[in-house]
Amino acid sequence: MERRVTYAVVSLMLVSTVSSTCPCSDPEWCKPITNTTRKEVFMFSLHDKASSWSRFDWTRVTTVVMVGYVSPDLMCFAHQHNARVVIIANYQTADLTNSSKRQAWVTQQLATVQDNYLDGINIDFESPIPKDQVDVRDGYTSLVRETYQAFKSALPYSQVTVDVAWSPACIDLRCYDYKGLAQYTDFLFVMSYDEQSQIQGECIAKANSGFAKTLTGLQGYLKIVEIPPSQLVLGMPWYGYRYPCLQLTQDDKCFIKHVPFRGVNCSDAAGTQRDFSAVYPLLQSSGAKRIWDNVTQTPHFTYKDPSTGIMYQYQYDDPESISIKCQMAETLGLRGVGIWNADSVDYSNTTEANKVRQWMWGSLPQGPSW
Ligand SMILES: *[C@@H]1O[C@H](CO)[C@@H](O)[C@H](O)[C@H]1NC(C)=O
Ligand SMILES: *[C@@H]1O[C@H](CO)[C@@H](O)[C@H](O)[C@H]1NC(C)=O
Ligand SMILES: *[C@@H]1O[C@H](CO)[C@@H](O)[C@H](O)[C@H]1NC(C)=O
Ligand SMILES: *[C@@H]1O[C@H](CO)[C@@H](O)[C@H](O)[C@H]1NC(C)=O
Ligand SMILES: *[C@@H]1O[C@H](CO)[C@@H](O)[C@H](O)[C@H]1NC(C)=O
Repeated sequence: MERRVTYAVVSLMLVSTVSSTCPCSDPEWCKPITNTTRKEVFMFSLHDKASSWSRFDWTRVTTVVMVGYVSPDLMCFAHQHNARVVIIANYQTADLTNSSKRQAWVTQQLATVQDNYLDGINIDFESPIPKDQVDVRDGYTSLVRETYQAFKSALPYSQVTVDVAWSPACIDLRCYDYKGLAQYTDFLFVMSYDEQSQIQGECIAKANSGFAKTLTGLQGYLKIVEIPPSQLVLGMPWYGYRYPCLQLTQDDKCFIKHVPFRGVNCSDAAGTQRDFSAVYPLLQSSGAKRIWDNVTQTPHFTYKDPSTGIMYQYQYDDPESISIKCQMAETLGLRGVGIWNADSVDYSNTTEANKVRQWMWGSLPQGPSW
């Protein structure tokens, strides 16, 4: 996920609500979703707010990942709408090679899922494992395999997934055994965003989820690692980056400060992440001009903050760029698409919020046979 959020999530995951009897008004809703091969619209939810998740487009969502919380109400609601609900979990790199620690972790995750009538687990480990640390790399694969085996044996319809970087080429020093991870998961969620975590060449603001990098990354998983398309979900961002420009050229290049990340001089850490619910209203209210980049197939705009005089470039995604990537997922025959994160749009019940939200959700595929 977003690097700066991921790690805060781990400790929260230990807080789970144990419900030994079905908490739903209809006991049917405590039953798991049983179709293990259908297409996916995989949504991460960061806030346990019924006023938000009740307004998700449940004609589209197939799986909700509860990030940092466990909600019986959401479980009942999602199952009522034929969608899965899973937990998210992370693991410490230092403990990857310790099989008894792994076992204890797997047991605990499975108990959380079983006690709460949930459908599975999304493993969001994003720490560096350099190429030469083969034992650590294999420890991670073992963790995933042990999770998969324990879950499938206890809960045959359960879903086990792993989040991976936009490309398998050791992005951010994540030199994992991607083939092994795919073998022991239902599918990999490819985080086709934060693609500028390591900027090569000119240190300028670039697309968060550009067309070429997204396609190259997916093809890396398909052709180099040889993962079948049915085991890949294309993850897209409902957030963008706000970059302060040190200099803005005539042809719209925004030069940014050098901020290193995992061995590369320049990165998107020079900017800050901004949800679509912040970006889009600013575009509208400021009168800034939305510029469509034909190469990255994404929009951006520049905006000068009147109070500070700082020039910012916003690189983001909107329904036009999201639709193009959904088309890519379909063309490649992938298992589906997903979004980090569902709470990046405005769920308030105003005419404008309702309209923008339907526009965003409407860019995602619908129905079982898309
Ligand atoms: C699962 O759903 C797909 C449609 O997404 C359908 O084609 C398939 O038959 C379903 N499988 C089962 C076992 O129900
Ligand atoms: C593995 O973890 C267990 C349980 O925390 C601990 O007792 C043991 O010493 C660890 N083993 C190694 C090799 O670090
Ligand atoms: C990293 O950036 C600095 C400027 O901030 C530059 O002087 C240096 O040569 C760069 N190093 C590499 C390896 O590009
Ligand atoms: C971008 O592509 C569209 C359609 O292919 C074309 O009409 C337009 O001229 C292109 N714009 C630029 C700046 O290349
Ligand atoms: C949303 O707003 C509409 C129109 O103002 C109103 O009729 C409806 O009751 C509201 N829904 C909720 C859940 O507040």
